[in-house]
Amino acid sequence: MRNQIVAGNWKMNNNTPETELLLDNLMQHVIRDDVSVYVAPAFTQLSQSVEKLKGHAITVAAQNMNAAASGAHTGEISSSMLIGTEVHTVILGHSERRSLYGETNDSLKLKVSSAIDAGMKIIFCFGEELSERKENKHFDLVKKQLASALFELPSDAWNQIILAYEPVWAIGTGETASPKQAQEMHAFIRQQIENQYDKSLADHVSILYGGSVKPSNAKEIFSMTDVDGGLIGGASLKAEDFMDIVNAF
Ligand code: PGA
Repeated sequence: MRNQIVAGNWKMNNNTPETELLLDNLMQHVIRDDVSVYVAPAFTQLSQSVEKLKGHAITVAAQNMNAAASGAHTGEISSSMLIGTEVHTVILGHSERRSLYGETNDSLKLKVSSAIDAGMKIIFCFGEELSERKENKHFDLVKKQLASALFELPSDAWNQIILAYEPVWAIGTGETASPKQAQEMHAFIRQQIENQYDKSLADHVSILYGGSVKPSNAKEIFSMTDVDGGLIGGASLKAEDFMDIVNAF
């Protein structure tokens, strides 16, 4: 059985008091033990969140990191800095990082390899733009994103990988892939992993769906065979909505 996972990507939201309030609200809920729950605050709120969630079943993740170990990278954060704040999970490849901050398949390959070497868990995001889907290029595009960043990893590194398929046209737009579209792509992704590695490895990788997941659509999306949870943006900023999504399995 694969891990069921719900991760909240807070993006550039929640300063110190807002983080305090949201975490307080989240901590009032009992987290079911068959779902792994993550929240990804901004860098400046990581320590605060780790401290606050000590002893609680919610894991803190970062939203990004640099591939380099240290050095002249003004404004950047390394894996050892994250680990130093007791953060052992990082989101990499989010579409906003790709589109707004110039991250590419090649630069992500370096980040992935650096995070793996540091022993971190990675929530690796990828997905097509609307124009690519309209031109029926979405499968090829997703295959390329996966292959270039991940397919040179040794099999055992996949214990550290969680995938998050996020069609760009569904992120923050209110438009969601239909459960059928999500299942079709997730099955395709799993098949690519099986082709590159083997069936057993492919069967163990959790593949999350992301893009306008909310309490009203989570159940149907999560019921798809190859969908193992969600990466949640907007709806993760409200404790009730986020917990309704966690409980949608
Ligand atoms: P959304 O964002 O849920 O607000 O669409 C998802 C994401 O960006 O990970």
